[in-house]
This record gives sequence, C-alpha cells and structure tokens, in this order.
Amino acid sequence: MVLVVDDVPAMGQQYAYDLKRVGKYDTMVAAGGEEAFDILGREPIDCVVLDLEMPGSDGFDVLRRLQQRGIETPVIVYTGTGSYDRCVQAVRLGAYGFVDKAEPIERVVQEIESALSRGRMARELRSLQSRFDGETSLIGDSEPMRALRAAIARVAPIPSSVLIVGESGTGKELVARELHRLGPGAKTPLVPVNSAALPEQLVESELFGHERGAFTGADRLRRGAFETAGNGTLFLDEIGELPLPVQAKLLRVLEDRQVTRLGGNRTIASGARVVAATNRDLEQEVSAGRFRQDLYYRLNVHTLKVPPLRERLSDIPVLVDHLLRSIAAHLRVRPKTVAPNALALLVAYDWRKNNVRELRNCLERMMIASDASVIGASDVPPEIQEEDRDDTSDPTSEPGSLKALKAQAERQIVLAALEKHGWQVTRTAEALGLADHSSLLKVMRRHGLKSTHRDT
Ligand SMILES: Nc1ncnc2c1ncn2[C@@H]1O[C@H](COP(=O)(O)OP(=O)(O)OP(=O)(O)O)[C@@H](O)[C@H]1O
Ligand SMILES: [Mg+2]
Repeated sequence: MVLVVDDVPAMGQQYAYDLKRVGKYDTMVAAGGEEAFDILGREPIDCVVLDLEMPGSDGFDVLRRLQQRGIETPVIVYTGTGSYDRCVQAVRLGAYGFVDKAEPIERVVQEIESALSRGRMARELRSLQSRFDGETSLIGDSEPMRALRAAIARVAPIPSSVLIVGESGTGKELVARELHRLGPGAKTPLVPVNSAALPEQLVESELFGHERGAFTGADRLRRGAFETAGNGTLFLDEIGELPLPVQAKLLRVLEDRQVTRLGGNRTIASGARVVAATNRDLEQEVSAGRFRQDLYYRLNVHTLKVPPLRERLSDIPVLVDHLLRSIAAHLRVRPKTVAPNALALLVAYDWRKNNVRELRNCLERMMIASDASVIGASDVPPEIQEEDRDDTSDPTSEPGSLKALKAQAERQIVLAALEKHGWQVTRTAEALGLADHSSLLKVMRRHGLKSTHRDT
C-alpha cells in the first residue's frame, strides 16, 4: 500500500490514481503530516510519496518526525521547485529518493519499486537475524530461570509426557518449544493444539482426526494432531479447558499409544511426545471434579513450573533488551532503548496480571508513544509509575510479616517527621531525603495520611 501525502487534494488524488494505474498499487491519500501519521499508525503502508512543499508542517518536518519516531517506511519525496539542494537535504533526513513533479509517473513507480525491494531485503535480513538469535530461546539468568533451563534439559530427551504449569504469560509456550528443540528436534513436527474455546466435537477431531462422513459436515477425511505430530511433539495448550469426555479419550490414547479417527475403526500408532500446559491449578481442578485424576497423573510424570516474572525481577533488564529488539523487528521500526530510570520503574513493578506478555505489551506501547530513541520514565504507563513496589509499600500485607512491620515503621517515621515540620510537605520531604514533595505525597497516600496543612 502506497500513501501519497499532498496538501492539494486534487494533486494527491491524481498521483494516487496514476500510481494505481501504472504501478498497480493500493493507494491512500493524506492531506498533510498529521493525517499521514494517523494512517501510518493504522494501515500497512509500504511506501510514502511525500510532497516537500506544504503549508504548515512541510515535507521536511514530516521526514524529521518519521526519523524521530524510528518509522522506517521508505519515503520518496517529490518537489516542484526543481531545487537540487532541497532534494539532497531531504535525502539527508532519510528520504529514500526524490523525483520532480514534471517527471513521468513511470519514474515514481521505478523509485517505489526500488524502495520496496530494499525494504524486503532489510526485513529478510532481520528475520534471519532473529532466527539466529534464537526467537525461541528463554531469556533470563536469574536463579529460577537457570533451574528451569536445567530441568528442561533433563526431561527433554525423555519420551514421557511433560506438564508445564505457570501463570498466564510466563513463557509456557516457549518452554514447550525448547523441549521440542532439545528433544525430538527440528526434523520432526511440533503440533500445537489449543482446545480452549473449541466445541467438544471439534476438539476431538482436532486431536484424533475423523473419517469421511463421521458426522454431519465431515465431508472429507481429516488427520488429527496425534497423527500429524508423528514422532515429534504434540503441544496441548490450556489442557485445563479440555472437556471431560475428551479427557477420557485422551487418557486412552496416551495409555495405548495409538489413536482411532472419529468414525473409524483402524488404529494408528502414535509416537508423539505429549507436552501439556496450563495456567490452572490442576490439583484443584481434580478436586472440583473438572479434571480427571487419572489423566492428571498420566500427564504430570514430569512437571515444569515456570516462575512468575515477579519472582525473577532481576531478569527484567535482559528481557527488556530482548523484547525491545523483537518488537522493533515486528513493527518494522528502529530499536529503541530504555533509560535507567524507566527501567528502574519496570523492575519495581510486580507484573501480576500477565507476566512477560504484560511486559512485552507495555514496552510496545512505550515504544510507540515515545518520540525519542531512548524511552524515558515519563513514557512508562501511569499504572506502573504509580505502584511503588518498594518493599515497605504495602501496609495491607500479612500482619506480623517483615513487609507489614516495615510498612508500620515507615508510617511512624513519616508521621513523626510530618509532626516535627508542622505538616509542611516540602520541608518534610527534604528532611526525609526524598526526591521532592510529590514522592512524599505518594508515601503519605499509601499510608492514608492526609496533608491537612497547606504548604506555604
Ligand atoms: N524467558 C523468556 N524469554 C523471552 N521471551 C519470553 C520469555 N518468557 C516469555 N516470553 C515472551 O512472552 C510472551 C508470552 O509467552 P508465552 O506465550 O510462552 O506465555 P504462556 O505462558 O504460554 O502464556 P498463556 O498462559 O497466556 O498462554 C511471548 O511473546 C514470549 O515470547
Ligand atoms: Mg500459552
């Protein structure tokens, strides 16, 4: 898709029309910089054709802002002034090429083609690089991660089932991939099946396959995941969601090491290694009667626990680094870095909702929100800035625990200092060695202390 940016609507439309006719591109038109950025954020634009002369925010300004935001979509500028200097200046600002308005549309198409092929090459290179970096490898050198890696290496070569448990977004799927890589290996398939949200019959045919005519609508034979996985890995994601009747069939298949397609009677041997994952507490599911105990025992011969992110906060800096690069490659923008004070906020947050996935989403938002190449503390989402996960921060923690005691002590210290300084926030903050009065206000809010006295 090619985006034409021109302040004269008729001009833009004409260009778009000609480009569509001669170059066979899908096109869009923007009447200025603002609109262009809007569209770039929304549509999969492969190339921008930009008018240099526009009132207000001109082409140079747009180029500068593209550069600041790290947007690498190639830009071809066109100008009616015929000034060589201006074109050179545009190229310095990152334009891929330039044409004169007097030149035939074929020239523009030529420029676009060459920009697109360069973009394709850059993308291929990046994807090769990321494959080389091992997209599937588990990042983190904290104690829990090292223990997890060791456990993976230990069970990977064993053909019995493996159960991966852990909160949502902790990296269970990555662990499954790692098990496959170190186990059955890349020459065999890894077949993921996510049974959540699928109706019972579909889950069954997904797993075991069906013969033609097995049920209404089964108009052709379908091989199930057990068959497709061959001697590779069958990854049963969200196993806790599996309907009870399917659990019974799955158990039988695991015991007999052979499957029968729905509506068929021929048995097919299965050599696939089964890896199951869940974020539910399966033991609890068993007691609640929602999960078969015998299947649970079958699956949990080897259990790998993926630790939540808050128990390995020391992994955050390397994870941030890795995720930023991966996001940049995904969004096709230049990678950014995170300033130390912003990183400190990320390390202090407790990532309770979605663990690494939450961190990834947060970084993506920050990357898009920030104009600079270094993401600063002010770009950190407010909910993360708010939560000071300083150990003393939670006055509501278990009474008698170290945390609660610390919180209590903190409250007393702050209260005493406030009394001493007549509740003058600025002066108290100074006395307590806090950065400014707003940090004190935050601490006070946490402890339910109100500044009844005005600061003068
Ligand atoms: N240790 C890690 N190193 C690098 N990336 C990670 C790590 N852990 C998780 N991620 C990334 O975090 C995201 C979530 O991981 P994944 O999908 O494996 O989690 P999950 O436990 O399967 O989550 P859910 O329970 O929601 O299915 C992915 O983008 C993954 O690449
Ligand atoms: Mg998952």
